[in-house]
Amino acid sequence: MNLVVIGAQWGDEGKGKIVDFLAEGADIVLRYSGGANAGHTVVIEDQTYKLHLIPSGVLTPEKRTVLGIGMVVDLENLFEELGMLEERGVAWQGRVLLSDRAHLVLPRYRQMDKERDAERRFPLGTTGRGIGISYALKAYREGIRVADLYDPAVWRGLSAQDREYLEPYRKRIEGMVVDVSRLMHESRKSNVLFEGAQGTLLDLDHGTYPFVSSGISCAAGAAIGGGIGPQQIDQVVGVFKAYSTRVGNGPFPSEFRKERDGNLGDVIREIGREYGVTTGRPRRCGYLDLVSLRYACRSNGIDTLCLTHLDVYDAMGEIQACVAYRVGGEETDEFPATVSALEGAQPVLRRFPGWQKPITECRRESELPAAARDYVRFIEEYTQTPVEITSVGYRRDQTIVRQDPWTRS
Ligand code: IMP
Ligand code: MG
Repeated sequence: MNLVVIGAQWGDEGKGKIVDFLAEGADIVLRYSGGANAGHTVVIEDQTYKLHLIPSGVLTPEKRTVLGIGMVVDLENLFEELGMLEERGVAWQGRVLLSDRAHLVLPRYRQMDKERDAERRFPLGTTGRGIGISYALKAYREGIRVADLYDPAVWRGLSAQDREYLEPYRKRIEGMVVDVSRLMHESRKSNVLFEGAQGTLLDLDHGTYPFVSSGISCAAGAAIGGGIGPQQIDQVVGVFKAYSTRVGNGPFPSEFRKERDGNLGDVIREIGREYGVTTGRPRRCGYLDLVSLRYACRSNGIDTLCLTHLDVYDAMGEIQACVAYRVGGEETDEFPATVSALEGAQPVLRRFPGWQKPITECRRESELPAAARDYVRFIEEYTQTPVEITSVGYRRDQTIVRQDPWTRS
């Protein structure tokens, strides 16, 4: 079975935790897009792991993980991460595989990335990891792929400087390199979890362009980056938070505003620990945006939603969510295509009573307070998509499952 897990907002929805949780049922976890711009936090017992490139499945013994075709891989970052795992006793040898078709991020791309962004009239606020440069060079047909390290004709054509940097890695990664499409074919009877990076609203095509990342964050990217056909995707799980966050610049219609919402933004940021894993930047926070969530459900074919961080609202007397936008005097519940429309959009907010008690120890839906269940039910009705997993804390066991996606049909 092929299960895809994607972000349904602007990234940082808690995919790391959910992928780690679902990895139990997987044989292989394959990441299909992005690079070290991503940051995943996984908490296992008293240990916190921060990963950027390697799928969080690596923390479950015996699972194989794959850095897929659609990724852009910075080998320095990769070995830093492998070193961290080794130091903490996670045996990764033989369990971390790398697509021969993945593109490489060279150190000089990082500087170029920062310079380009600073020159922009409206900087995106990139993570400065060289991601956009790699994808641009890929589209420009001047990228360097993993397989190129072993192709004498291409290798000879690289600059002396690039060869010098890459030379040591030729041996170091040799045993990890695979043909992903072939591996997927050989594993067609296995359970494969395809892990997306960033989120739908940062997707190059579906996101709030140009304030997006440069990879494919949407579910269809699993087919491209995983070397399978679209009809081979069995289930799509969309992960979203009980509120919204965004790192970097760009439109965010439901963002908290001091004049309207007081210090709510600061409160949520502290309770939800909303600081970037990759850059440490404070994340912008806002109300749950149901307009964009339904857009994400449609454009990804999301079968089932997974709600995270619901416990962050535990102390609130009242909760609000955005159910429409007011754009230029008109109300709409469709997600606009342009940045100007999104920037001018005023959120239409709906109020929900809070539950004002801790839910972090709830393990079944029936144990959740009625107000929390009502909030979830409204989301399901609005998006026409069931919410079948609810996360009430960072730990693996703080997860409520109505329907396991691995046995869903
Ligand atoms: P880039 O991917 O570094 O080019 O950054 C482009 C935009 O995407 C910036 O606004 C980043 O903050 C944002 N971004 C990239 N990766 C992530 C992520 O994993 N989580 C949240 N935002 C991200
Ligand atoms: Mg993240």
